[in-house]
Amino acid sequence: MHLPDYKEAKKRNKSNVEEEKYELNDNLINIGLNKKYHIKTYGCQMNEHDTENIKAMLEQIGFTECEDQEKADLVILNTCSIRENAHNKAFGMLGRLKHQKEEINKNLIIGLCGCMAQEEKVVNDIMKKYKYVNFVFGTHNIHRLPYILNEAFKTKKQVIEVYSKEGNIIEGIPAKRANKYKAYVNIMYGCDKFCTYCIVPFTRGKQRSRESIDIIKEVNKLIKEGYQEVTLLGQNVNAYGKDFDYNYRMENLLEDVAKTNIPRIRFMTSHPWDFTDKMIDVIAKYDNIMPSIHLPVQSGSNKILKLMGRKYTKESYLELFDKIKTKIPRVTVSTDIIVGFPGETEEDFQETLDLVNYCKYDNAFTFIYSERDGTPACRLKEVIPMDVREDRLQRLNEVVNKYFLENNNKLLGEVLPVLVEGISDKKNIYYGYSDTNKLVNFTSDKELEFGDIVNVLITEIHTWSIDGRVK
Ligand code: 5AD
Ligand code: SF4
Repeated sequence: MHLPDYKEAKKRNKSNVEEEKYELNDNLINIGLNKKYHIKTYGCQMNEHDTENIKAMLEQIGFTECEDQEKADLVILNTCSIRENAHNKAFGMLGRLKHQKEEINKNLIIGLCGCMAQEEKVVNDIMKKYKYVNFVFGTHNIHRLPYILNEAFKTKKQVIEVYSKEGNIIEGIPAKRANKYKAYVNIMYGCDKFCTYCIVPFTRGKQRSRESIDIIKEVNKLIKEGYQEVTLLGQNVNAYGKDFDYNYRMENLLEDVAKTNIPRIRFMTSHPWDFTDKMIDVIAKYDNIMPSIHLPVQSGSNKILKLMGRKYTKESYLELFDKIKTKIPRVTVSTDIIVGFPGETEEDFQETLDLVNYCKYDNAFTFIYSERDGTPACRLKEVIPMDVREDRLQRLNEVVNKYFLENNNKLLGEVLPVLVEGISDKKNIYYGYSDTNKLVNFTSDKELEFGDIVNVLITEIHTWSIDGRVK
């Protein structure tokens, strides 16, 4: 039994990260034969992509996917720890699964993985209070799933296998991708930033960058399979390569991926601290790197940014923001903002509003600060009452929404390139995203192929989407 341990997870050592190949033992090939699985995924794109890996591994060992959770023989929850409500959702679902096991299928196998599996407290609770959960595995040992399942089947005991130390990068894990035209490609794992509110450096471990040769190989394979877009994924992609002992960074990777000629490249998430001028130049130079940047600011107050351990000031953020806006034609910028961080006064919050009024973001994900056990911010004394946090969120949302609409209004009459992703059944209307990451609903006189990139004339504006017709 391997249990999570925060002290171990917090350690950052210099030991080299090696590359290992995913291998499946022949004797596991049929353990899921005639059994159906269902996975529920919470949280970020990293988790979504992990789910794609989990699905492919399950299908390698004989399982088939099943849409209806109640008909499944195996249900896995791929969980998120970032805020308390993500926790609550997963625990709520565990309650429903208990009922399903008692009332519908007593042989139901229940598994839990993802970031919550890396939390000491969660795993302790599962061992004590959720004995009906058959297995738990962490974010560092996804590749072990077939073996863990096998053990759970054989021993009929609760199997807990969570590594706190990251270990190596595992190459060659198969993926059953959710989308035929857009693919997630991991470029790095973990995060070394330790923003004081954030649980990720504990649940995802130290930063480990994938070798560019493996990334390019994956992108080339995706191109052959007909993919039009890749999103390069990492908790802090701008720090890509900082853990290598040679000089190859995000700007080099972006350029090499651009040279594969895949039509669309996106990347997320960026930390303002590591965003270099060279990166901006590369993004501006290549047409296939999309002019849409996610640049989380978190707060507009220098005092709060310092308490958050963000390592930049409002002034240096704005300098970077201006550079991005002037150097990358047509660029759109989105952000993440937290309100109600300990010590945030009304004046600090006003500074956040001022910053939003300056940046006029195209999109913003806004959050109420949520205490995460074990993070440094939990020890801060000046806790903001929940009603104040809620009030600030509402006021912030009013301001950000105003700019979504204002920015979209400027697009009226413009022609945007849109990747055709699907058609909504009811209205015969296609949908997809523009290069600038706007959701576009549009009509066409001719029938369109999904996966094509078409020019759409924008004819109507809403806050969260825009409408148009193919030109
Ligand atoms: N409370 C609220 N929001 C958080 N985020 C990360 N940790 C917390 C927390 N403890 C937000 C940040 C981050 C996004 C992914 O989630 O804004 O950028
Ligand atoms: Fe969390 Fe900060 Fe790392 Fe992002 S950069 S994952 S907010 S610690």
